[in-house]
Amino acid sequence: MKKTVAIVFGGRSSEHEISMLSSRNVAAALDKNKFDPVLLGISKEGTWYEFPSDDVFSEVQAITDAKLPKNAEPVALMTQSGKPVVYSLNKKSARKIDVAFPVMHGTFGEDGCIQGLFKMMNLPFVGCGVFASAAGMDKEVMKRLLADAHIPSARYLLLTPYKSNSYTEITAKLGSPFFIKPASQGSSVGVHKIKSAADFDSKLKDAFSYDLKVLAEEFIEGREIECSVMGLNHQPKASLPGEVIPTHEFYSYDAKYIDEDGAAIKVPAILTDEQIKKVQDLALQTYQVMGCDGLTRVDFFLKKNGDVYVNEINTIPGFTKISMYPKMWEASGLNYKDLITQLIQIGLEKFQIEAKLNTNYAKN
Ligand SMILES: Nc1ncnc2c1ncn2[C@@H]1O[C@H](COP(=O)(O)OP(=O)(O)O)[C@@H](O)[C@H]1O
Ligand SMILES: [Mg+2]
Repeated sequence: MKKTVAIVFGGRSSEHEISMLSSRNVAAALDKNKFDPVLLGISKEGTWYEFPSDDVFSEVQAITDAKLPKNAEPVALMTQSGKPVVYSLNKKSARKIDVAFPVMHGTFGEDGCIQGLFKMMNLPFVGCGVFASAAGMDKEVMKRLLADAHIPSARYLLLTPYKSNSYTEITAKLGSPFFIKPASQGSSVGVHKIKSAADFDSKLKDAFSYDLKVLAEEFIEGREIECSVMGLNHQPKASLPGEVIPTHEFYSYDAKYIDEDGAAIKVPAILTDEQIKKVQDLALQTYQVMGCDGLTRVDFFLKKNGDVYVNEINTIPGFTKISMYPKMWEASGLNYKDLITQLIQIGLEKFQIEAKLNTNYAKN
């Protein structure tokens, strides 16, 4: 029996448009012999719609309530007799779904919010659960968990609007230059390399405009290496690593999205066997420490002296044509279609494991 997969995209995130691009590829790669897709798009305002076909991805770059593609049906996610359904508000009819595939980056999609909704609806889903999603989104919490497991990451100071440090205090602890970044953003939004006291105040103000927590981080000079991981938490698999080579001073928003030549991508990365092993081992350890299930991309810095530092994790990495996550799997011998199938199967397996847990007290 074919499973019905709800591909969920869009949403109230600055990465709404990237989500549309990613979802287009996921929908196209879905194995139609095994799965029936249901396309659920969330508008920029937060309204849920079902779309009849993947034309939605070519018709609009972003879903807005004011300019909806034709045949968009307002829907709600709910449960009937404990089973998850998509309920059409106009037709007043329910349609059963088996599993959700959230392809939403950043706020509400990658931070545990939508994962919590799926759990409440008793709906199996692809990717990390509430805790790993939330912890992976907050770079400070992530660093504390990594430190606890002795996994190297850049030294940092936590700055808040209530307790900040001066430029002199930061350079005394972390050296110069240093980076500042909002704790819970993506796409390099609000990330700055600080080289002098002169631009510190304005850049810090910019970082604080996105978040109430900002990290000042020591500058790590090195290559930017990434590794794809998937699987249940107790048996994850790591791909061959890839490399991003920014042509800008660092991998900034402009280098990622504005400047077409902002970065070169090398998959697989040219590394020694020993370096590959080190990166993969650290990616797997990070995945386990962070409590990830399903998928995660782990990003690193590799210094000239061979030291490897974890920079960050992405629990719903990009799935666009140029995205590293599927490319690294492809280079490791797993094609896009089989990757999507495996990710869905892992989500279903995780749900079955959790469904066996007692929800009633049993005297023992
Ligand atoms: N400590 C650091 N040392 C050197 N470069 C950094 C450091 N932190 C961030 N960068 C640069 O900034 C980019 C974006 O930072 P990152 O922490 O990955 O944020 P985001 O989640 O927005 O991608 C990195 O890819 C890297 O180029
Ligand atoms: Mg990054």
